[in-house]
Amino acid sequence: MSNLIVANFKMHGSHAFIEDWFTNFNQNKTSSHDVVVALPASYIAAFRNYGIVLSGQNVSAYESGAFTSQISAEMLKDSGADYCIIGHSEAREQLNESNESIREKFDQLKRMQINPIVCVGESLQVKETEKTKDHLRNQLSVLDSETEDLIVAYEPIWAIGTGLVPTEKEIDEAIGSIREIFKKPIKVLYGGSVKASNAQILLDNTDINGLLVGGASLNAQEFAKIAQLC
Ligand code: PGA
Repeated sequence: MSNLIVANFKMHGSHAFIEDWFTNFNQNKTSSHDVVVALPASYIAAFRNYGIVLSGQNVSAYESGAFTSQISAEMLKDSGADYCIIGHSEAREQLNESNESIREKFDQLKRMQINPIVCVGESLQVKETEKTKDHLRNQLSVLDSETEDLIVAYEPIWAIGTGLVPTEKEIDEAIGSIREIFKKPIKVLYGGSVKASNAQILLDNTDINGLLVGGASLNAQEFAKIAQLC
């Protein structure tokens, strides 16, 4: 199974910034690893022909209709996205997303042949009360255990943007409990304070199939360095 490396720009950048980033990244990357860039939705169409696979950062749970502000899976596909992040902890929290709505988003994406990247992860409080495994099982319980080609991103909330990274043992325990749920082989990415300086250790020493990179992905050279390791 080849490693997948995903940049999550979140709500950062501008047209000029992204253009610069793509030029810089293409000059710095030395091989063609599986790289995906999750852009703000408004820029996906403009960058669809830059030779890099693009992802959305969220999608509507509905097909179409009176859902002001939302973007459908069909619209994402039309704009050029081949992947889409769903269930990111920031969206779960800020947009009040439930596991059920994430399942609906998952189905919408599959219908349009877009690969969902399903994010899960525990808060510090869940970790401290040793309920991580239950929490992850609950977040993923809405998905069919027979799902093929599933991509899950394990992102402990307390590790996102904080500089804190779980131990290798903690990552493997969490990932083991995620793999246990599914009957088919799945891809599990790790995300949370990944940088060029810790990416190699994470890839070498844990049972992950790639990385989801937020803050550090905004620097094209740093992200190219991470991509080279995958
Ligand atoms: P971070 O974010 O790399 O800045 O911690 C990861 C994410 O939220 O996907």
